[in-house]
Amino acid sequence: MDNTGAQFSWRVCRNDVSSSSEYSTSTNLLNGDKMLSSIYLTGVLRVILLSIISLGGFVALLLMHYSSAPSLFCPPLPAFPPQYSERPQGQHNSSLAKTLPDKPIMLLWFWPEHYRFDLSDCATLFNIDSCLLTDDRSMYNKADGVLIFHKSIKRDLSNLPRSPRPPFQKWIWFHVESPTNTNRLSGLENLFNLTLSYRQDADIPIRWRLTARKGQGEDFVLPKKDKLVCWIVSNNNPATGAGQRYNYYRELVKHVKVEVFGKAFGRFLNYEDFYNTISSCKFYLSFENSVHRDYITEKLNGPLAAGTVPVVLGPPRQNYEDFVPGDSFIHVNDFPDAKALAEFLLKLNKEDEAYLHYFQWREHFSAQRHLIQQYQEFTHAICYACNHVGTHKEYRVVHNLYKWYFG
Ligand SMILES: *[C@@H]1O[C@H](CO)[C@@H](O)[C@H](O)[C@H]1NC(C)=O
Ligand SMILES: *[C@@H]1O[C@H](CO)[C@@H](O)[C@H](O)[C@H]1NC(C)=O
Repeated sequence: MDNTGAQFSWRVCRNDVSSSSEYSTSTNLLNGDKMLSSIYLTGVLRVILLSIISLGGFVALLLMHYSSAPSLFCPPLPAFPPQYSERPQGQHNSSLAKTLPDKPIMLLWFWPEHYRFDLSDCATLFNIDSCLLTDDRSMYNKADGVLIFHKSIKRDLSNLPRSPRPPFQKWIWFHVESPTNTNRLSGLENLFNLTLSYRQDADIPIRWRLTARKGQGEDFVLPKKDKLVCWIVSNNNPATGAGQRYNYYRELVKHVKVEVFGKAFGRFLNYEDFYNTISSCKFYLSFENSVHRDYITEKLNGPLAAGTVPVVLGPPRQNYEDFVPGDSFIHVNDFPDAKALAEFLLKLNKEDEAYLHYFQWREHFSAQRHLIQQYQEFTHAICYACNHVGTHKEYRVVHNLYKWYFG
């Protein structure tokens, strides 16, 4: 999880880049001088030549010294994003250095699924303003980070940036689907410098998290409930791994009524009704489409934010408890089968005190409502990538992307 050891500094000292070419130029000059000296061996001329050679050698040594010295005495890394002036710059006197704010630039190479949002949303929705976020590809040469949405590469590497990568630039692999729903595109090994994923050991782990309450939170008022178990689901396609949860639902519904909504059941909900609907149910099925470590999505956050008890199907209970308190949810694996789970839910329906126990965690934490509109599906991840680039300087080469991701 902690990969600091393998990480490189964000900044490349400018002189490291040019020193090798300067070195070879001076060596050639010296060799040329030596050839001349073997032709004219007469007294004075020889002395003059010898002094030229030693002078040349001295100058060459001086050049080598100055080209390598700054990398030895590289000033300490800045605690915050580097100044534009500290970056390797082109031969031009860049006016950008003076006009742009002191923030790293993050280039969104693709709009994921073509869902566009206003790039200023990061500041308004999440108070994230630590990078200059842009979708303008002409900024490529100046971008500190390039965020590359895996699905949009579409098996065609020519969809990736084609210009040479500036030495200070990080490419970020941006993928939030589980391995079950991931195409293995070839050619992606040793290409990225950071990973963005739901995985906890990604460089930029993305999820909606509970926040610790500061001091006394306002008293929690249980929303009015007129349904027992609800499920909003858009996809039951077994090809996406969703067969397992659908089978569980079909067993469950034999023993307890489940109110279903969403595209999968042809019963659409307006965005405005999303949280209210979840609030009106005592339990909500937070069933992931496929079961993988850390693959715990906003399907869990929804009921927590709405004041409802999630019934989860996904990785083992222990993995959920890495992110939320153990008494904030019910896990299907806590029961031998769907029938036993149904009986437990029906029992809790009659025992208010036992039911309310599932809300005690709210004394210490709160859940915030995640964005639900389709065009906002990737806003949170993109903004957090911006935050990361603005506040971290380390990066590396991601050597075995798939070994890590599918392993
Ligand atoms: C760079 O441009 C600025 C503003 O135009 C000017 O004042 C400065 O002298 C220039 N520096 C160099 C090294 O050309
Ligand atoms: C970023 O990744 C590229 C491609 O693997 C690599 O060439 C480059 O050195 C990496 N940058 C750093 C600073 O590690």
